Amino acid sequence: MKRSKKNIIPAGHRVIWIIGASAGIGEGLAKYYASIGAKLIISARSRDKLYQVKAACKGNPMNVHVLPLDLEDETSLPEKALEALRIFGRIDTLIHSAGVTQRALAIDTKLSVAQKIMDINYWGPVAITQAVLPAMQQQGRGHIIVISSLMGKIGTRFRSSYAASKHALHGYFESLRPEIYDDNIHISMVCPGFVNTSLGEKALIGNGEKYQKKDDVHIKAMSVSEFVKRLIPHLDKQKEEIFIAGSEIKAIWASKYLPGKLFRRKIREAKVI
Ligand SMILES: NC(=O)c1ccc[n+]([C@@H]2O[C@H](COP(=O)([O-])OP(=O)(O)OC[C@H]3O[C@@H](n4cnc5c(N)ncnc54)[C@H](OP(=O)(O)O)[C@@H]3O)[C@@H](O)[C@H]2O)c1
Repeated sequence: MKRSKKNIIPAGHRVIWIIGASAGIGEGLAKYYASIGAKLIISARSRDKLYQVKAACKGNPMNVHVLPLDLEDETSLPEKALEALRIFGRIDTLIHSAGVTQRALAIDTKLSVAQKIMDINYWGPVAITQAVLPAMQQQGRGHIIVISSLMGKIGTRFRSSYAASKHALHGYFESLRPEIYDDNIHISMVCPGFVNTSLGEKALIGNGEKYQKKDDVHIKAMSVSEFVKRLIPHLDKQKEEIFIAGSEIKAIWASKYLPGKLFRRKIREAKVI
């Protein structure tokens, strides 16, 4: 199939697999796509929360299928992907929204905690993408949406492993993009700034325990519904890189346009919690 805008299937006619759909941005996307009639597979670890999201979705309940999974259980992921493909017979859009963040200095973060962040944020999405790709290639189209972060482009204090995992996503998916161009498979890298979800409260501190505190930057951040409203028009166009943020977007401009030394001073001074 030739790569062309005419090959974009309207979102309401798609089969969409959302990983990280039990909360936050993934939940917001699930509710939006259900409301326009898409067929959904929703995944995360918490079966109960996924069923709550399913119950809250508008439209035909038969169109929303719950598929619990744990991204840390890497060996289970290829089989989960095959199961997801069997549910509606195909996957048109794969959304990676699951993630865990960090609130600890690099020196205080146990290696096992850094690896856990990498497993959930990077290796899990890679394993699932690899397992879904052959089916997308066979059907001659697909859209992979990766919810990265501004931390996929820059790094700040308290986020060393988180920023590393998000940078890794960019390295992987930017390399994959040209490999699957002729298969008509699109990749959208989404870089949010602060969004008001419970991501920060569940952040891992150095010993792997939860931070259990909502930082000012998240309390004052945009809501999930505002974020989803701003994101959807870009996803409909299958844009390759999407930034949605409040004033923290200035950090990205600064990284591009300020002399390196000045930018790094701004990063040292930045309020990140
Ligand atoms: N909120 C922000 O300010 C912000 C900013 C930039 C980027 N992001 C990115 O946006 C994405 C969504 O974050 P959010 O703010 O919506 O966070 P959230 O509300 O905490 O949602 C995170 C989702 O990931 C799932 N998850 C966590 N660990 C998992 C695992 N081991 N296996 C499977 N699923 C797992 C959670 O479900 P279970 O706990 O049920 O497994 C939940 O559905 C993340 O990738 C995050 O890095 C968020």
